[in-house]
Amino acid sequence: MVCLGNICRSPMAQGILDSKIKEQGLNVSVDSVGTASYHIDQNPDPRATAKAEEHDIDISLYRGRQISTADFDEFDYIYVMDNYNYQDVLNITRDEEDKKKVKMILNKIFPDQDMSVPDPYYGGEEGFENVYQLLDKACDKIIEELTYEI
Ligand code: 4NP
Repeated sequence: MVCLGNICRSPMAQGILDSKIKEQGLNVSVDSVGTASYHIDQNPDPRATAKAEEHDIDISLYRGRQISTADFDEFDYIYVMDNYNYQDVLNITRDEEDKKKVKMILNKIFPDQDMSVPDPYYGGEEGFENVYQLLDKACDKIIEELTYEI
């Protein structure tokens, strides 16, 4: 899961998907990163942590990390939150195989529309609720597809 800072959207996406993976007993690993380096080693934004906590998901101890090419070796799918992330991640791909892994996460629920998860960092609490709802639905679809694949 990839966003800009790795303190709002992508840690929420990681927590949501991880909780669904555990509910289903799947053997899948998920992590999150930022394209930027501003928040390396920082815990998620308290507003993201509180929103996840409302849904019994604990992301408080996650730590910010920046994407690197090693992530393309480690992971089968790289889900990005917005168009900027998409471009930044594509810029560090090494070949077609890497490129194929990069997906806009909201295409899971709004196919082919290339919609972005709005960045809630500068807004109010309602932005975090909106992000939670979008990511929850997208992660349901990811789980459904993983269940077929495994
Ligand atoms: P995120 O939100 O990409 O969802 O983690 C942001 C976090 C920090 C900043 C921007 C967006 N920032 O400019 O520091």
